[in-house]
Formats: sequence, C-alpha cells, structure tokens
Amino acid sequence: MAFACWSSSPGTQAQEALPTRNCTWCHGSSAQGFSTAPRIAGQKPHYIVRELLAFKDHSRDNPTSAQYMWGATARVSPELASEFAAYFAALPAEPANDGNSALVEAGKALYVQGAAEANVVSCVVCHGPNGEGFEAIPRLGGLSYGYLKSRLEQWSQGFHASAYPMPRVATSLSPEEIDALASYLSFLK
Ligand code: HEC
Ligand code: HEC
Repeated sequence: MAFACWSSSPGTQAQEALPTRNCTWCHGSSAQGFSTAPRIAGQKPHYIVRELLAFKDHSRDNPTSAQYMWGATARVSPELASEFAAYFAALPAEPANDGNSALVEAGKALYVQGAAEANVVSCVVCHGPNGEGFEAIPRLGGLSYGYLKSRLEQWSQGFHASAYPMPRVATSLSPEEIDALASYLSFLK
C-alpha cells in the first residue's frame, strides 16, 4: 500500500484497486484469449465467479487448470471473484473464427437438434440460440476452437466432474462431433 498516494483521482481508484493485469498477461490485454488461455471478455458473470471458485477449491482439476489457474486464484476471495467477473463480463467479445468452416453445418445441426440415436442432447436449450449463455451457463459463441475442443474432451477423461451436467453430455460425443461443435461455435458472434 506504499504507493496508494499515487492515485489522486477518485474516479480511477476502484479500477486501479482491481489487479486485472494479474489476469490479462495470460488472457490477453483485452481478454480475447491467448494461447491456451480462453477469451473471458463478455463471459457470463455468474459463470466466471463459479469457475474462479472451482479453480480455487481445485474441483476444476484438468491439467491446464491446475497448472495456470490454481495459482492465479489461490488468494481470490468470493468478493474479488465478483469484481473480476463484473469487469471481464462487461468487455466486448470478438469471435475466434478459427474452426474448420467445412464442419459448420454439421456442428450447427448437432448444437440445435442433438443426435437422439447417439444419445446426444441438444445444446441450444441451455446455452441459447447464439451460444450466448445464461447466468451460470457459459457463453460458448466465439470461443476458440482449441479451447472448446479441449474442454469437451476433458470431461470424458474424468476431469472437472462437478460441472453438472457437462460430464454426462460430453461423454456421449464422438471425436467427430466434438470437432464439428467446436468449429461451429468458434464462428458464432
Ligand atoms: C498463468 C496464466 C493465467 C493467469 C495469470 C490467469 N489465467 Fe485464467 N486461465 C488460464 C488458462 C490456461 C485457462 C484455461 C484452463 C483450462 O483449459 O481449463 C484459464 C481459464 C480461466 C477461466 C475459465 C474460462 C472458461 O470459459 O471456463 C476464467 C474465468 C479465468 N481463467 C479467469 C482469470 C482471472 C479473473 C484471472 C486473474 C485473477 C486469470 N484468469 C489469470 C490462464 C491464466
Ligand atoms: C442442461 C443444460 C446444458 C446442456 C444441455 C448443455 N450444457 Fe454445456 N454447460 C452447462 C453448464 C451449467 C456449464 C458450466 C458447468 C460448470 O463449469 O460448472 C456448461 C459448460 C459447457 C462448456 C464449457 C465452456 C467454457 O467456457 O469452458 C462447453 C464447451 C459446453 N458446455 C458445451 C456444450 C455442448 C457442445 C452441448 C451440447 C452437446 C452442451 N454444452 C449442452 C449446461 C448445459
């Protein structure tokens, strides 16, 4: 707190107090994602809080989460998690547009209708027609292909088992279906 006197303008104090640089050095300066760190700009605030606490209590336990996010959230209180969530949720989000465009039609059909014979439920009922999410259900539209793919693969590997209902949903997806869904979603705005 030795440098608190630097901040003379009351209007900027709240923002300076929130150490968003501890996040943006991995997630990108405008939080659009970078490398394995996903876009968090425009994500649903309830969902961000839920995930930050899941990293902190180690229930989101896939290897990249353990490697990068357990440390980043070790000292994040529920109050601070809410402040980070409000800040990042309010940033504009850009679509990654990095999936295989040849798979978009197949991905859209699965997303909207599911595949009854393969026991795949429709995603649209929860994640919304544009993958926009709702409260603690995450926004999927425009996340990067690689991130979506790795998330959908990890549940079948037994990680993050507390993320109801996704372990059961994702386990019924074939690798081809995961490819198509991740491709389609990466282009959604
Ligand atoms: C050292 C790099 C690093 C730092 C620092 C970091 N993150 Fe992350 N973050 C990641 C990676 C990598 C993932 C993806 C983990 C996975 O694949 O499950 C992630 C995932 C997340 C998620 C989950 C997104 C989703 O769609 O499920 C949220 C929310 C998040 N980070 C917020 C933050 C916040 C807030 C901070 C600052 C307090 C922060 N991160 C700091 C690398 C980082
Ligand atoms: C019954 C509601 C429901 C249905 C149906 C559903 N989801 Fe989800 N999904 C959720 C919830 C809730 C979460 C957040 C879980 C958590 O982290 O606690 C989630 C998380 C996800 C994530 C992680 C996003 C991120 O930012 O890390 C992906 C990817 C995902 N769902 C894809 C799908 C796909 C693809 C389908 C269709 C095959 C689908 N979901 C069907 C409710 C649902």
